[in-house]
Amino acid sequence: MEGHNAQDPTEQVESARKAFEQEFGRFARFIEASAELRLPLSEADSEQRSLKELRTRHLGKKSALAASKKLIGRVGPDARAAFGQVVQSAEAEIASALDQAEQTLGGILQTLRNERESIDVTLPGRRPRLGHRHPITLLRERIEDIFVALGYAIEDDREIETDFYNFDALNIPQNHPARAPQDTFYTTDGFALRSQTSTVQIHAMQRRGAPVRMIAPGRVFRRDTPDPTHNPMFFQVEGLCVDEGITMAHLKGTVAEFLRRMFGPSTVTRFRPSYFPFTEPSAEFDFSCFKCGGQGCRICKNSGWIELGGSGMVHPNVLRAVGIDPQRFSGFAFGLGIDRMCALMYGLDDIRLLFENDVRFLEQFE
Ligand code: FA5
Repeated sequence: MEGHNAQDPTEQVESARKAFEQEFGRFARFIEASAELRLPLSEADSEQRSLKELRTRHLGKKSALAASKKLIGRVGPDARAAFGQVVQSAEAEIASALDQAEQTLGGILQTLRNERESIDVTLPGRRPRLGHRHPITLLRERIEDIFVALGYAIEDDREIETDFYNFDALNIPQNHPARAPQDTFYTTDGFALRSQTSTVQIHAMQRRGAPVRMIAPGRVFRRDTPDPTHNPMFFQVEGLCVDEGITMAHLKGTVAEFLRRMFGPSTVTRFRPSYFPFTEPSAEFDFSCFKCGGQGCRICKNSGWIELGGSGMVHPNVLRAVGIDPQRFSGFAFGLGIDRMCALMYGLDDIRLLFENDVRFLEQFE
């Protein structure tokens, strides 16, 4: 006859014991071993789990041994005691093997965990690699510091604008080329990516009214083809001062003082007549080369002067557009490109380097 139940009960116990021995074979190393046995923590962990499963399989409620135990009562009275002993000794043998292996493995695991968690205080620390600010940010912050010291507030505003802020309020006529899609980026909904930070003048005057003194550093966009002095995205800083009795003299004094604080006390500033729709009169400003002091060198292309930005007296139409009375208030504004200034100061011959984000390049400017 075949089948588990038909087997002689003593043989059943014997085969349960043999089955255990076979499976336990690979854990025998933990019986003789001491806690010095070397194995990786992950392996020790998984061996511990396997041992637990082995215990459930061979000593648990559904094990063959448990089934044999249930037979004790059914064995004839004269063989019962002997059979009971067989079962017990098999159980004791299995339990002791498992106990020993678990104990050794527990010790090994403890040692491995202690090793992993122990800290050698004599080892040198690992210094985290610190990043630092981008050269354009460094320059922007220097500019901001100077103007904050002169009593200017720093304004920030949106980069996507309606035509009103980018053009209309700045007195830029309907047919002006800057409005053309060849010059300005538009979204599909007809919003413009601001092409100058002058847009912030308008927001600031609407919000604060007059008098107002502010600078607006920020990102601007133009459909310019990238070359050593152009990027389609770059940074500008705009300055605005509106109060009663503001004249061109205040503009010149402020720009000259800014440039002296930026490039040293002997820096000379000059203004050249120019045209911007939002200022009247308008002027571009240059300063004496910070490298050669005006003698002529590679940086100033031998002219002794470096062109920096545009400026002028705020056009009365701009004041009107934001509800400020041009009869009572007047103001000046100026704007310059931070990227080109940054390139000049660090001797870069291509502003595109600033946005390639090559860490080997960027980490030179601390
Ligand atoms: C203006 O944007 C005026 N808003 C400046 C102004 C403000 C005048 C207030 C009067 C009153 P302009 O288009 O010249 O002016 O640009 C100013 C500066 O931006 C330039 O001097 C230059 O440094 C920088 N710039 C212009 N186009 C680019 C470009 N494609 N890439 C990098 N920098 C640029």
